[in-house]
Amino acid sequence: MTAFPEGFLWGAGTAANQIEGAWDADGKGPTVPDMCTAGSNTEPRLITPTFEEGKTYPNHEAIDHYHRYAEDIALLGEMGLKAYRFSVAWSRIYPTGMEEEPNEAGLAFYDHVVDACLEHGIEPVITLSHYDMPYALVERYNGWYGREVIGLFERYCHTLFERFAARVRWWMTFNEINTSVSSMGCVFGVSTVRGYRGNVSRAPDEPSVRFQALHHQFVASARVVAYAHERYPELRIGCMSSFVPMYPLTTDPKDVLLAQSKMRMSSFFCSDVQVRGEYPGYALAHFRRNGIEVRMEPGDLEELRRGAVDYYSMSYYMTVCLTTHVGEGAAVGGNFSFGNRNEYLETSDWGWQIDPDGLRYAINAVNDRYGVPIVIAENGLGAADTVEEDGSIHDDYRIAYLERHLEAVAGAIDDGSNVIGFFPWGAIDMVSTSTGEMKKRYGFIYVDKHDDGTGTLARSRKDSFFWYRDVIARNGLA
Ligand code: BG6
Repeated sequence: MTAFPEGFLWGAGTAANQIEGAWDADGKGPTVPDMCTAGSNTEPRLITPTFEEGKTYPNHEAIDHYHRYAEDIALLGEMGLKAYRFSVAWSRIYPTGMEEEPNEAGLAFYDHVVDACLEHGIEPVITLSHYDMPYALVERYNGWYGREVIGLFERYCHTLFERFAARVRWWMTFNEINTSVSSMGCVFGVSTVRGYRGNVSRAPDEPSVRFQALHHQFVASARVVAYAHERYPELRIGCMSSFVPMYPLTTDPKDVLLAQSKMRMSSFFCSDVQVRGEYPGYALAHFRRNGIEVRMEPGDLEELRRGAVDYYSMSYYMTVCLTTHVGEGAAVGGNFSFGNRNEYLETSDWGWQIDPDGLRYAINAVNDRYGVPIVIAENGLGAADTVEEDGSIHDDYRIAYLERHLEAVAGAIDDGSNVIGFFPWGAIDMVSTSTGEMKKRYGFIYVDKHDDGTGTLARSRKDSFFWYRDVIARNGLA
């Protein structure tokens, strides 16, 4: 018997900056990822304020979904997908983020995407902001550090609601909002980050700046949620956090305390604000102890309360261990995480620890904390794929990874947790966020595009495509 409820959202996800390409087509303005060079697992991506000769900017063409969306969405329909999570590029709608009127060509593109989904019986799920702030807002306001950006984001979101609310019920505000607690601020133009180099904003990379920028995102998210609740009560708007469970490396109670405090600030802090509508006490204590000042305006806290989200969503890729015993265990990789190796776990070829049980643990922890519906918005394996002579792609490692993680989701549902959807990352191969590589593939659909920019961009079905089609058809694992 399947653990998955009737109407479960069997989905898959992408992000505009990683798939669309056409970075300057039809009036689109540049975004932060457009300014990022290619990197690798060992070579960081650079953020360059202007395009540099001889450097590759992989997001410029990406997989050219902008011109191939119809074929891509037809393939998702063939797989039987119930829901498709994609993001809208803010700078396609407002090229600099600051225009008074939206760019009709940008809206028309998403009209086509949404309509194609609906034609194939796929429920669209829109992420309003997935790591692609208009670059002009970094130059003008230091990204989210500038409070002015809140109002500009609201205008952009109102435009999208007005255009799509009748056709799109499910929304998320900020992708992995919590990653700017410790890193990734560069994507919002406020700081440097591990794995990336170059600070394109004038705001220094320090905790006060990051938390100030986050506060502005919290207020922006809350305002947008409250606005939608008032005008479009049928919409469901969620938050999205990168959840990285942290285990104590040893049984030393000091390690247990360390893991608890780090996990609170990294995985729980943002969703505590967005789901419960208030800053948790441990965050205020963290600010006080570390001399972090967050400027708030009168009314901000009330707005946070009014703009609590309808559901919680997480990306989940790994767990890490923490210890107070300096030097114990080797370090592990991850986009935004840090920590020690867990001797019971294997890692991906990019050094990410693979831990299906950690997903069950994460879901149950979130369920107990919030009691709102949970969506797994991302989960998947980045791996190099081999195309056989006959064109087939036997990605049994990806199937095994997803199968084990789905078993964990089923286990959490069986434990009583309210999971309503699962969106593997990604629907199709795309440019990696952390490394800018194509080689680090996540998709069910293979794209003939390589790190040196060559390839026909042709799409083909991997073995995992057929596996997932069958999972969806039977509403669960065999
Ligand atoms: C998540 C992001 O952190 O991880 C995605 O939301 C990203 O945008 C995914 O692609 C996988 O990370 P990466 O760096 O391997 O592409």
